[in-house]
Amino acid sequence: MRTVLGIETSCDETAAAVVIEGRQVISNIIASQMEFHRPYGGVVPEIASRQHLEAMADVVACAVAETGFDGLDGIAVTYGPGLVGALLVGLSYAKALSLALDVPLVGVHHIEGHLFSTVFEYGDWDYPALALIVSGGHTDLFYLPAALTYERLGHTRDDAAGEAYDKTARRLGLGYPGGPILDRLAQTGRAEAAPLVYRPPLIPDAPYDFSFSGLKTAVLRYIREQQIVPLPEGLTRDAILAQAPDNIRHLAASFQQAVVNTLVGVLERAIVAYRPRVVLTGGGVVCNSALRQALAELAERMGVGIRIPHPKYTTDNAAMIAAAGYAHLVRGERHNWSLEPAPSLRLGNHTAARPQPFRA
Ligand code: KG4
Ligand code: ZN
Repeated sequence: MRTVLGIETSCDETAAAVVIEGRQVISNIIASQMEFHRPYGGVVPEIASRQHLEAMADVVACAVAETGFDGLDGIAVTYGPGLVGALLVGLSYAKALSLALDVPLVGVHHIEGHLFSTVFEYGDWDYPALALIVSGGHTDLFYLPAALTYERLGHTRDDAAGEAYDKTARRLGLGYPGGPILDRLAQTGRAEAAPLVYRPPLIPDAPYDFSFSGLKTAVLRYIREQQIVPLPEGLTRDAILAQAPDNIRHLAASFQQAVVNTLVGVLERAIVAYRPRVVLTGGGVVCNSALRQALAELAERMGVGIRIPHPKYTTDNAAMIAAAGYAHLVRGERHNWSLEPAPSLRLGNHTAARPQPFRA
């Protein structure tokens, strides 16, 4: 097993990548559907499935341009969690290819893929590890006592952090997706100029869970009380950056500070309790400039290693799926044709003795 094709279609990116020995990225092709979903302010499942169908063959052809189909030793495909119709497209394509080429197939959990997104720049990691995955669909914290062993310590009780970005941006007329534009605006605002009535929640008996609904309410209330007028719909990114009034910039900075404090607060508690050798991070929100800085500072302060992937590997991509799939394929793990999309697939199989969790 050497060269693995990864395929990822769980949400709104059609992606394929060829990775050698789980580490060396030969190609990493991503066809984003963002433009098709933008008018609706979020991902529309039917549109996602159709666009995956349109793009799938071309994206895979681009990915294998260098190695050729004959150069592939295995295929790794995301089979959950995600949109069922979207997953079905990638999974069906992967099964057909595996059959036609007579190479093994392995299904990969999308979040396990994100956990592998640091491997290209940093290589293998030590255990025990913690992993914080923050995206538009997930905000999860995992404990990894050993290779390919995952225990989910916490998750979001309501919105994912990226979803909170996207909803806040929509309310301010900043378009979709909200993360990148709020990140840019926040850099020109002052958080203290837009104080929100918000404290990072500490959920009883669930110290590693997240919640962003309180922040959503605080932002709504602030918008109402300060009578903040959203920007008109349909402005370009450059126009938004040029025209956004100061009150929106300050609110962006304050919102961003609250999100970062919430994420970093939970992670710090887990580092104290679990004493990991390294913290892995991934997911689209890890593109965020303030979060990247806060994570690096936290790791430095706590004396723990941190891995923050390059933005091209933090958002959804198939290189990370190929890398995770490789780790399973080299152990002889295979899936057969009965593999089905699993929209609510859970990651976490570790139940053995573990350190005493933090109690508030
Ligand atoms: O991992 P990803 O590409 O897709 C999912 O699996 O959800 O993450 C997309 C999410 C979106 O919610 C987007 O607003 C957010 O990541 N995002 C950001 C930034 N760039 C993307 N959030 C905050 N700051 C950013 N710079
Ligand atoms: Zn993702």
